[in-house]
Amino acid sequence: MNTKYLYINTIGCQMNHYDSDQIAAVLRPLEYKVTPLMEMADLVIVNTCAIREKAEQKVFSFLGRLADMKRSKPDLLIGVGGCLAQQEGARIIERMGHVDLVFGTSAISRLPRLIEQIESERCRVVDVDMSEGIDEFDFAGNESDNGKVTRFVTIMQGCDNFCSYCVVPYVRGREVSREPEKIINEIRTLVKAGVREVTLLGQNVNSYGKKEGLLIFSRLLELVNEIDGLLRIRFTTSHPKDLSKDLMFAFKDLAKLCKHIHLPVQSGSNRVLEMMNRKYTRALYLEKVKKLRTLCPEIAITSDIIVGFPGETKYDFEKTLELIKEVRFDGLFAFKYSDRPNATATRLPEKISEQEKKERLKAVLDLQDYYTIQTNEALVGSEEKILVEGYSKKQKVVDLHGGRQDFQWTGRTSTNKIVNFVQNDGGIYGDEIIAGKLVSIRIMKAFPHSLWGEPVKAANIPLGFRGEKAHVA
Ligand code: 5AD
Ligand code: SF4
Repeated sequence: MNTKYLYINTIGCQMNHYDSDQIAAVLRPLEYKVTPLMEMADLVIVNTCAIREKAEQKVFSFLGRLADMKRSKPDLLIGVGGCLAQQEGARIIERMGHVDLVFGTSAISRLPRLIEQIESERCRVVDVDMSEGIDEFDFAGNESDNGKVTRFVTIMQGCDNFCSYCVVPYVRGREVSREPEKIINEIRTLVKAGVREVTLLGQNVNSYGKKEGLLIFSRLLELVNEIDGLLRIRFTTSHPKDLSKDLMFAFKDLAKLCKHIHLPVQSGSNRVLEMMNRKYTRALYLEKVKKLRTLCPEIAITSDIIVGFPGETKYDFEKTLELIKEVRFDGLFAFKYSDRPNATATRLPEKISEQEKKERLKAVLDLQDYYTIQTNEALVGSEEKILVEGYSKKQKVVDLHGGRQDFQWTGRTSTNKIVNFVQNDGGIYGDEIIAGKLVSIRIMKAFPHSLWGEPVKAANIPLGFRGEKAHVA
């Protein structure tokens, strides 16, 4: 069989990135090899997101561009998967005639069959069937991704919460947890392939296993913590209503669990939280933040905020700003509310104007910038353990003062802050490949979205920001 090339464009959250790895893995037996160059592709797959209107627009604009490519390369196959595919089904082909395949969030395991059918019959196929439930894989590591230090592992799919603005329960289905043995085996396989950090994924990891009577999430974390060779564990996302004491204690007790929690609050107003069907109050959220910080003072807390939910008054919005001031998040993702098909908030009157949403979004982001910079600056001078992920993508080569060129490495603190550094004129780690290692870095400078540091070996490292003398290419 001839090798064919597969290009995957992943839009959206970590869950989609995980699914894209699965797509690449299931198509390997069909001799499809992943390429980073779209021009080379025989098959282009777009793994789509439907969470907000903007994500949907992004998908259609990319598909629009693919029409030109197909005109000059008629044999090119185009597949659309993921959440928007699940939501729209055949409507995608009606709107975009050059698309060959639409496959939903539960159809990845059926993908080889679907592609073979299209290749042999040159027909169009839509498969958005969700009746078989969760897609299960015996994940055997992804060869094309060998060398990756950090990977996502899905521990559950779907969601039962039905927040009124959210499309996820409709496009990802009801909540289903994977069996702990499968998760542990998958992580062991990844560790053998060189992975040193995993991020456990689920829409609401706190309710892991409850429905199926499996282990509770904190117990699963304990088992993952015991895996030899794994250095770090992260997870996302936690629903504040289900954040349990056990899980809070895990931050204190489990050595490998990183000291960061993403705890989406969405709004600081009780009235809006109720309309959103979030099932917690502002006071309960603040109480949980306080408990977390008491148990684990260095924990970083990040969150999501939606501005301009239908009926959100200026007073409600003020309550959100106040909450941000009270918590002082380490980082925040903020979004303008957008109507989604099926989500019940779509039917609410009193929509907020685009202009008002824009202004509220800016107010949130400006306020948060202040706290982000403050939390980053507070780290200057401290020594942090960084898990090195590889070379920094943006600024690969740094010209050191001796004229010597060195690579810029990148990694994260336990609290999930990005740290870039060079190897001190070839000192300390020499030319060693340090991706996958935990190294000690003295933080020298804080930027809005990253930190700059220097490797530390012994206690008596001279302070001073050598990077300042460096010219960044
Ligand atoms: N409009 C705006 N933001 C939304 N989110 C989810 N649905 C919507 C919507 N309809 C945001 C929430 C969620 C994050 C992943 O996306 O903040 O936590
Ligand atoms: Fe959507 Fe709410 Fe479920 Fe999160 S918890 S995926 S916001 S319905």
